[in-house]
Amino acid sequence: MSKLWGGRFTKQTDQLVEEYTASIMFDKELAEEDIQGSLAHVTMLGKQGILSDDDVDKIKDGLHRVLQRIKRNDIEFSVGDEDIHMNIEKTLIDDVGSVGGKLHTGRSRNDQVATDMHLWLRKRVVEFVDMLYKLQSALVEQARANTDTILPGYTHLQRAQPILFAHHLMAYVSMIGRDIERLQDSYKRINVLPLGAGALAGTTFPIDRHFVAKQLKFDRVYENSLDAVSDRDFILEFLADASIIMMHLSRLSEELILWSSTEFRFVELDDAFCTGSSIMPQKKNPDVPELVRGKTGRVYGNLVGLLTVLKSLPLAYNKDMQEDKEGMFDTVKTLQGALQLFAPMVATMKVNKEQMRQAVNQDFSNATDIADFLVGKGMPFRQAHEVIGKTVLYCIQQNKYLLDLTLEEFKQFSGLFDDRIYEVLQPENVVNARNVYGGTAKSQVEEAIGRADASLAETASWITEYMESSR
Ligand code: ARG
Repeated sequence: MSKLWGGRFTKQTDQLVEEYTASIMFDKELAEEDIQGSLAHVTMLGKQGILSDDDVDKIKDGLHRVLQRIKRNDIEFSVGDEDIHMNIEKTLIDDVGSVGGKLHTGRSRNDQVATDMHLWLRKRVVEFVDMLYKLQSALVEQARANTDTILPGYTHLQRAQPILFAHHLMAYVSMIGRDIERLQDSYKRINVLPLGAGALAGTTFPIDRHFVAKQLKFDRVYENSLDAVSDRDFILEFLADASIIMMHLSRLSEELILWSSTEFRFVELDDAFCTGSSIMPQKKNPDVPELVRGKTGRVYGNLVGLLTVLKSLPLAYNKDMQEDKEGMFDTVKTLQGALQLFAPMVATMKVNKEQMRQAVNQDFSNATDIADFLVGKGMPFRQAHEVIGKTVLYCIQQNKYLLDLTLEEFKQFSGLFDDRIYEVLQPENVVNARNVYGGTAKSQVEEAIGRADASLAETASWITEYMESSR
């Protein structure tokens, strides 16, 4: 079969070269966007009088038929036709005859492939905002159900100060809120039209790029034709955003894995999200968060991979850039897999409130509060720190916790103690004493949940609007 670009050649392409340079095996993913872009392009060619209305109609009808066949999985893509763009063009020409060869007027595969990627990625970005929204909602609901659940908060993975479980979950709500904002912001830079840049310099035909942009619902067109075909920043940005999302999910994964161990027993993941061991009958393994933690590596890899492909690459298009696709597709698939499972896994996990409470009772995470108590009585904080340090050491030696000490025992360390400390040391009071904006006091956490509800509602309307305009 002859090549669409065969005119200048006297020899057949080497079979191995053909296979090595082809991208159809993976860029067939862009088929629908490729046709979407072609339909807008050919409509513009007609409007500008570059093609006759009759030719435009034939080509459009043909493109619609090709699209239907693609949706029915009724086209055998061929490696000989290299990539999705030439496979579709060839199929079109087979369908409508030589008039199909007019479609590529005023266009290059360089601006075409970039356009396809912009169209494809903007849809994914909106879908990811939707998936993150669902995870955020699941976290907020768990938080709402746990505004009385107290557990030790950790620093250095050592018990530090008691906090509400709701407060801990709301930290992830904030993190995912930033992930959503980043994706929403990136949309501005994805939603720019490269088409019309031609191979690199523009085109001699009197095209109307803004008309094409409008049809494809792009907000802007690229300002510079070289930049239009060379730019892959929008993919890098997505890969970076995805890496941060996976990093967040891996932190939550790690906590879920720890918390579901016998050592913690803070949560129990639903059976539907765990797997067993082929040899140890007692095991229930948190495979889903483990795999999310593990798959974070490949998502980082895809980012570093593309950064490296683009490093030092001269303008404009170079074949190296065909390497932009598989990593992007892989990251999208990996992120979809993780987010799809995370929301229901969080929603269905059982929170072991008693076990968390017991962990709080059996530690010294209320120590800061008696130091603060002494400060309230006029002792300088540094000195109070020292006094309580000694008190804790005494407890450890006596195998007691602070609440087990008698007032006489307390008074050995400072005459300022009185029996109000037993109130101060109650975990609820310790928590509620942190009554600052963003702190763990119950009223603060309830307000944070209220703010999250409002921001969820805003995200929901963003999704409705962009789900429509990204298609
Ligand atoms: N398959 C190519 C890619 O994905 C399309 C652009 C090809 N352009 C070219 N001048 N060979 O990068």
